[in-house]
Amino acid sequence: MNLIRAFIAIELPAQIRQQIGHHTNLLQKKIGACVRWVPARNIHLTLKFLGEVTPKAIEQMQQAIQLEAERTSAFDISIGQIGTFPNVRQPRVIWVGVQAPPALEQLQHSIEACTSHLGYPAEGKKFSPHLTIGRVREHISQAELQNLRTELECAQVGEMGTIKISEIHLFKSDLQTGGAVYTRLFTAPFLN
Ligand code: 2AM
Repeated sequence: MNLIRAFIAIELPAQIRQQIGHHTNLLQKKIGACVRWVPARNIHLTLKFLGEVTPKAIEQMQQAIQLEAERTSAFDISIGQIGTFPNVRQPRVIWVGVQAPPALEQLQHSIEACTSHLGYPAEGKKFSPHLTIGRVREHISQAELQNLRTELECAQVGEMGTIKISEIHLFKSDLQTGGAVYTRLFTAPFLN
């Protein structure tokens, strides 16, 4: 059976992705190859990573997403600042922050609930909205780690703007040698 690697996410306007891409390029010049940088076109706000999904489950997922979207009103989120998971001493994921009203967390909770009914278990960790811009490689040297920490502490990534969110998407992820390619499979617009 053909399994599809899939996730549910919010897409960002091209202009915000370009702004983030500009900051990523600056960081890349200073930090270099010890981080796998996310190309601007791939930056999104993940609500639920599903992993490998059957075509039948994709159909069920579309219906579930549609229902959740129909219960949600549009809301604004603000983008800005830079941070790391799990912390700045041992950075694994580098992200740009998302400030959002409670509506985003409610939406993410409802999606977790309906996808777990379909057999995709909840993460079990608190939802922390973020836009991943880089993933630190395994086994980097102490010098690279020190440089990474210093550059991240000095990075000036202020407010990038506020955007209106009025839909969510189900994406397919193809892992290719040149990096992941994301394709929209389905879009569910909000109530208004
Ligand atoms: P994140 O970096 O914002 O968490 C598509 O693969 C998206 O799903 C990724 O951008 C990633 O978003 C998220 N994701 C969460 N868990 C994942 C996992 N185990 N493997 C791959 N992607 C995952």
